[in-house]
Amino acid sequence: MRPLRTGQRKHHGVSLGFLALSLTTACCLQSQGVSLYIPQSTINATVKEDILLSVEYSCHGVPTIEWKYTSNWGVQKIVEWKPGAQANISQSHKDRVGTFDNGSIQLFSVGVRDSGYYVVTVTEHLGSSQFGTIVLHVSENTAEEIELQDVEC
Ligand SMILES: *[C@@H]1O[C@H](CO)[C@@H](O)[C@H](O)[C@H]1NC(C)=O
Ligand SMILES: *[C@@H]1O[C@H](CO)[C@@H](O)[C@H](O)[C@H]1NC(C)=O
Ligand SMILES: *[C@@H]1O[C@H](CO)[C@@H](O)[C@H](O)[C@H]1NC(C)=O
Repeated sequence: MRPLRTGQRKHHGVSLGFLALSLTTACCLQSQGVSLYIPQSTINATVKEDILLSVEYSCHGVPTIEWKYTSNWGVQKIVEWKPGAQANISQSHKDRVGTFDNGSIQLFSVGVRDSGYYVVTVTEHLGSSQFGTIVLHVSENTAEEIELQDVEC
């Protein structure tokens, strides 16, 4: 009896999953060719950390992915690439950025000056695109150290 019940439950789960997937697909096809998922849109970090700006896209074919950095100083292009091909990293971020096939980038050993808005744009071959933003706060000290300093004062 037990294996049969497990089997039924599994089947139920698969059906629901498939339904959800179908709905998502229908939704994306209606609005845009590209869909973009950003699990965490605000990241708090401390100096010297390696930070993953994590995204996941889906679209038809191989898109072009572009990341830009926006702060009070203006807009700066960080990197542009097609998954599977070599990334074109701008001079300002040379040797400081790694790219992943899902569109994510990693920033190595961040500084306070890396704080700001990171805008990713995924553009399909046919021209439709989708963008998203991740806000990065880089602070000098950890929260605990700041609290300690307050106590000392
Ligand atoms: C980041 O820090 C701010 C306060 O500085 C806090 O409000 C926010 O919840 C934090 N976010 C995360 C993802 O930890
Ligand atoms: C994208 O890929 C990286 C590296 O494999 C992974 O760590 C990250 O979780 C992925 N992002 C999402 C949103 O799946
Ligand atoms: C890389 O980017 C720079 C600046 O955006 C551009 O001038 C150059 O042509 C690009 N190189 C390649 C190989 O795409």
